[in-house]
Amino acid sequence: MSKTFYLTTPIYYINSVPHLGHAYTTVIADAMARYHRLAGDRVWLLTGTDEHGDKIAQAAAKAAVSPQALADRNSAAFREAWQRLGTTQDDFIRTTEGRHRTVVQAILQKLWDVGEIYLGKYGGHYCYGCERFYTEKEIVDGKCPDHQTPLTFIEEENYFFKMSKYQGWLIDYITTRPDLIRPERYRNEILGFLRDPLQDLSISRPRRRLEWGIPLPFDDKYVTYVWFDALINYASALGWPDGERFHTFWPVVQHLIGKDILKPHAVYWPCMLKAAGLDIYQHLNVHGYWTLGGGKMSKSVGNVVEAFALSDKYGGDAFRYFVMREMTFGLDADFSEEAFVGRLNADLANDLGNLVARATTLIANYQREAGPAAAAGPDDTAIREAAMTARRGVEAAMDEFAFHRALAALWEFIGAVNRYVDSNQPWALAKDPAQRPRLDRVLLTLAETLRYLGVMLTAFLPDAAGKILAAIGHTAAPSLADAEIGRLDRLPTVQKLSGLFPRVDTKEAGAAPAGSSTAAKAGKPAQAAAAEPAGPATIGDFRRIDLRVAEVVAAEALPKSKKLLKLTVSLGAEQRTILAGIAQHYAPADLVGKKVVVVANLEPAKLMGMESQGMVLAGSTDDDGALAVIVLDRDLPAGAKVR
Ligand code: MSP
Repeated sequence: MSKTFYLTTPIYYINSVPHLGHAYTTVIADAMARYHRLAGDRVWLLTGTDEHGDKIAQAAAKAAVSPQALADRNSAAFREAWQRLGTTQDDFIRTTEGRHRTVVQAILQKLWDVGEIYLGKYGGHYCYGCERFYTEKEIVDGKCPDHQTPLTFIEEENYFFKMSKYQGWLIDYITTRPDLIRPERYRNEILGFLRDPLQDLSISRPRRRLEWGIPLPFDDKYVTYVWFDALINYASALGWPDGERFHTFWPVVQHLIGKDILKPHAVYWPCMLKAAGLDIYQHLNVHGYWTLGGGKMSKSVGNVVEAFALSDKYGGDAFRYFVMREMTFGLDADFSEEAFVGRLNADLANDLGNLVARATTLIANYQREAGPAAAAGPDDTAIREAAMTARRGVEAAMDEFAFHRALAALWEFIGAVNRYVDSNQPWALAKDPAQRPRLDRVLLTLAETLRYLGVMLTAFLPDAAGKILAAIGHTAAPSLADAEIGRLDRLPTVQKLSGLFPRVDTKEAGAAPAGSSTAAKAGKPAQAAAAEPAGPATIGDFRRIDLRVAEVVAAEALPKSKKLLKLTVSLGAEQRTILAGIAQHYAPADLVGKKVVVVANLEPAKLMGMESQGMVLAGSTDDDGALAVIVLDRDLPAGAKVR
């Protein structure tokens, strides 16, 4: 049965232009929405812009334009940014729209009528940047803890929402719903905050001080406090109180926010909803902050990465992949172009891109003579099971917004398929006519793997997924139900697909740190770098590495190291000591007598006070799960060159 799913992003302030932080939230919201559509759910994804308040009024005054003109211009910049990133929101709300203003005023009137709002006096230290008063406890050296700018003491009559009376209810509501605010660290943060008395919330600003806002319906000398106005967008966009959309989606509403706006969403908003008689959201999903070189970015600090330049330079899918894979949902992560290119080369160009190129090429090369395939063998069954495991992993991870875990699960599967190709060697099977049915089984498994990946990657890498599905002639709309292996008995016609993610030359790309003007603003046309891939390693690159067969003559554990084994190896004419990080995978005795492959011309390295004179080659899975030392499958003398 199809479910309904309603997700919102924060509505962004239009006093600044869109940057990496905003792009991150919007991209992961988009991936989540795409994922639910793939699962057949009825989805509504909302984003928009927050256009009232001091901050906007001040920015407009500075730019010598009217607040509305500034709002129009900058809201359009957000809209265009999301178009450029290809995100698939169903609605984009602006708080200056009539449909929003009406709802804000209706809710205010409702609360006023039932006595939830009163006129009171308040004096306090106000930060214009944050649009809020700070309590004595929060102030650091007389300054705003967020902006580090001096606060202004303001005393005035204002309207207050009786938030304090909801404190007990709110604590109880959060305590009895362990996954209301997630990840848990943010739930704990809010429960900690709620240990101190909760104050009433000032929800108005006098018009003589601030004109730019929604007038209070019961006193037009005041405009609405911007947070009270903004939060209501989530309901006004659905047509509260009785739009069809509101009835469909409100019961399943989930919010996605950055940790900077936890308090308004975890404290003010549920109290407002409760007072207005609306259901509380299902989940508040909170992500961490991107930093640059460990430092804070965004808002008042100017060093923001130009997310769009990177996305243009390396492709939208690469950008999406990086931000989702690199950041553990809920924690902070550091952004650098080097890390970006590292992941692009390793995970996208190498693991995924190579697999797609290999699989499509193999099928395209051999599909003409395809006949009935042999029955699935253990290797094929293992791939089918690995696909199911990965899918379950993705499903569980996406339930909790753990994008990084979803991608790790898929890449585990991609690794398994790459190993499957290596060990089944379809190119060798093709040389022996008697093996033709087995070859056809391998090709079938690969074709199904491509369909599986094309479907599963739709939410994360929509462009690449579309290309994979097109290459195998899968024209139906992607559906999670098709992410299953073991259904085909005939090969589809497949087109070769190579260069899905061209490798980036790290010497050129990695040199400039993210956010530096050279990297982000290079005046090259958008696709230039992607169109000039450095290409694969040359044979010359490979020849510089001196690989030799070596016989392990002795091996011992090092009492002080969990990871290292000390190996003595013979290269024929000489013996060497090599410290290999394989102690968690091999007992010393297992290795003695084995012929392994070593890098013989590696610069010696000092490890645990000893010199390691080379490196033993081993394969391993990404997550350190499995490791296997490369050994020879036929005898050769120690010292023989590997080429
Ligand atoms: N207008 C309010 C939100 C009102 S919602 C009813 C606001 N706007 S904002 O433009 O400042 O956007 C804040 C949001 O942008 C964060 O919650 C987060 O989603 C995103 N980010 C801004 N900078 C960020 C980082 N450095 N890292 C990650 N996300 C960040 O607050």
